[in-house]
Amino acid sequence: MGPAAHARKLTNPPHPPNCRSNVTSITWLTKSGVSTHTGKGQRMQHITVTVDGTVCQSEVEPRTLLVHWLRGDLGKVGTVVGCDTSNCGACTVIVDGQSVKSCSMLAVQADGSEITTIQGLSTADEWHPVQTAFKECHGLQCGYCTPGMVMSAVDLLGENPNPTEEEIRDGLHGNLCRCTGYHNIVKSVQYAAELMGGNK
Ligand code: FES
Ligand code: FES
Repeated sequence: MGPAAHARKLTNPPHPPNCRSNVTSITWLTKSGVSTHTGKGQRMQHITVTVDGTVCQSEVEPRTLLVHWLRGDLGKVGTVVGCDTSNCGACTVIVDGQSVKSCSMLAVQADGSEITTIQGLSTADEWHPVQTAFKECHGLQCGYCTPGMVMSAVDLLGENPNPTEEEIRDGLHGNLCRCTGYHNIVKSVQYAAELMGGNK
C-alpha cells in the first residue's frame, strides 16, 4: 500500500449534511445530574460532594482527578501530589470511611460521597490524636508524605484500634516516605492507638 492509500485511509469522514457544527454547547440530563458539553471536547458534569463537612457543588470535566479537584477547585492543598501514578499515597483522603488515593479516582466518581481531607481532621481547638502522635513521636522529616500517612493511619486505626507493629507496617504499605522515616511513623501510629484507647 503506497503513501497515498494511507492518507486516504486516515482521512476522517466528512460531516453528515445535517451536522450542526456551529453548536457550542449541549446540556442534557444524566443519571447523576446535569451534564454540559462545551463543544471543545469537554463534557462538564455537575457533582455534589461533602468535603470536610461542607457541601460542595461543582462542574467538572469527567477526566478531572479527585486530587486535582480538591486542590485546584476547593483549595485543599494539604492533600498533596507525590507521584500522580497511585504509588506514593501522599494524596490519601477518606472517602465514605475508606482511605483512597485521590489521584486514582475521578472527581465525578466522588459524586454524592463524603470526603475528609487532612484539613478536615482537626477542629479549630484540637488536633486529631493521630496528628498529635506524629508530632510527639517525630513521625515526619520533610513532611511531604505526612498528610497521606496520617489519613491512612486514621483509616487503619478505625478498622483496627489495637494493631501490632506488623499490622501497622502492612496497613501503611501503600504510603511511601522518601525520607525513609518509617520507624518513627510506626511509633507514631502505636502512640496514636494509645491516645485513642487502643494498644492497652
Ligand atoms: S500522588 Fe497519589 S499516590 Fe502518589
Ligand atoms: S517525611 Fe519526607 S517523605 Fe516522608
